[in-house]
Amino acid sequence: MKPTSELLLISDLDDTLLGDERALADFASFVQSLAPLRLRLVYATGRFYESVCHDIENRPLPEPLAVIGGVGSEIRRFPDGSLIEEWVERMSDQWSARRVREILEDQTGLELQPEADQSDFKVSYYAPEADPEQLARWREKLASEGIRVNLIYSSGRDVDFLPEGVNKGSAAKFVAALYNYAPKRVLVAGNSANDSALFEHGFRGIVVGNAHAELKTYAARADTYLSSAEFAAGVREGLEFWLSRMDLEGSA
Ligand code: GLC
Repeated sequence: MKPTSELLLISDLDDTLLGDERALADFASFVQSLAPLRLRLVYATGRFYESVCHDIENRPLPEPLAVIGGVGSEIRRFPDGSLIEEWVERMSDQWSARRVREILEDQTGLELQPEADQSDFKVSYYAPEADPEQLARWREKLASEGIRVNLIYSSGRDVDFLPEGVNKGSAAKFVAALYNYAPKRVLVAGNSANDSALFEHGFRGIVVGNAHAELKTYAARADTYLSSAEFAAGVREGLEFWLSRMDLEGSA
């Protein structure tokens, strides 16, 4: 049986752990100092595995157990990069990335992101300052063609179309169960709207001080801590907050 003090931190990367190199180096030493608590990490990002590996190689980012990539649309074990097939199988078969792109092709206000940000289960565009009505129209247009999507609009710019039910939160819930972590042993950290679903599964939340207003509204919830520090220093502050409130030997 696992020791009850084992903890999992599922954290976003860009503008959450990444953004301040000195704070990241300090975060990495802090994580190292928590070795007796057996804190393990999973990264949950809008980018894909290869680009995350590039960061792990070139920055003081601690090695994770796994990477949730493409805003929840893929999960790979680290360091072998093997895909967790069971997650792929859960994605709806009414979804087709090719069809999503065809249907949205003539829409003004949508500019396709680079191919490196696209996959069979994620179609992403830039749409600066899109309003909620416009987002609803794109969602409805796809629905009228029989494709139900999860549309996520982040940072006032990025629009991700994912299969229904797919987001960082559903993927995080799957990963926590896969590695046998009870929700109370899981901490999540983020800075923008594509992280909001991480905060919906009874995990302990950390919102970094530099977060967008779209995510800060979550900080009002009892199970979420709003850090005053930014980037990795904000994640560290949140970790310290939650560690001081957890019964690390028992079942709290
Ligand atoms: C990352 C991804 C991009 C996505 C954005 C928001 O920047 O590279 O494709 O749109 O996250 O989820």
